[in-house]
Amino acid sequence: MPGASRLEHGKIIMAYTDADFAFLRSVVFERSANVLDPSRDYLFEPRLRPLLNSTGLETLDCLVESLRQQPDPGLERSIAEAMTVNETSFFRDRAPFELLRLELLPALIRRRESSRRLRLWSAACSTGQETYSLAMLLAEHSPQLGDWQVEILGTDIFADAIARAQTGRYGRLEVNRGLPARFLLKYLQRTGDEWEIIPELRRVCRFQQRNLCSGSLLLEPYDGILLRNVMLYFSAETRCDLLVNMHRILAPDGFLILGSSEQPGEPGLFQPVLAHSTFYYKPVARLHHPR
Ligand SMILES: C[S@@+](CC[C@H](N)C(=O)[O-])C[C@H]1O[C@@H](n2cnc3c(N)ncnc32)[C@H](O)[C@@H]1O
Repeated sequence: MPGASRLEHGKIIMAYTDADFAFLRSVVFERSANVLDPSRDYLFEPRLRPLLNSTGLETLDCLVESLRQQPDPGLERSIAEAMTVNETSFFRDRAPFELLRLELLPALIRRRESSRRLRLWSAACSTGQETYSLAMLLAEHSPQLGDWQVEILGTDIFADAIARAQTGRYGRLEVNRGLPARFLLKYLQRTGDEWEIIPELRRVCRFQQRNLCSGSLLLEPYDGILLRNVMLYFSAETRCDLLVNMHRILAPDGFLILGSSEQPGEPGLFQPVLAHSTFYYKPVARLHHPR
């Protein structure tokens, strides 16, 4: 049933049906595995407004009707992307980065001295601040890592976020959030109104659009994975499958770091370790994966 409209203070206010919202929530779930709570249905209109304007479909119910008539994977992906939460900042939450700086990275560098190869993955990296924060911490070891093969991969489902991460450019408000002044001056250079990550750091960071829940796995093992502030948007089942995949991809002596409100639900996959006022997770050796 199409949404009814009413006039309020001279403005046309659309009233959409529960079925419209349920349809949009199911599109978001199918394309991104994000579970949206109905209490946040009011976000669809403002978040999808640019998409409605660009497609010429004026209202949400036109969009729903059009997709019901003819599914459009590209449009469905754009809806899912527009509804994801992209909040991020440099060195977000501080404690995990102190843990990396003081303990995890120095120990990993020692363990990799013979292979001289390091691979880190910032999964669900949004606009890249987390990925570049990792690169800055590694660069602090640069005399040691000069001739190493270092790769930091940043992935996110949201194409626009990945495109921004690739530019390595950030506005004043973004660099004022969490980035120590010393790092700002050392690892970014001013270009007009913006700041740009220096080429030496950008060279070690690689960005890819990737859906964590699409089942296509990264093939080579990673020494450390940051999977922060994204699992909270997934169902328990999706989280469980994702953690099994993370366990597969993580090197046996690697580490997994989650967001402060997230835990690896499945017992037996990861062992929590408390260090520097936060947790990280070591993979537990397994002969067989549960699925
Ligand atoms: C709140 S941000 C977290 C960014 C960063 N990890 C941090 O902690 O600051 C969540 C990110 O997860 C991404 N995301 C949501 N669902 C995803 C999925 N299925 N696959 C990959 N990325 C996803 C969103 O696009 C968003 O950029």
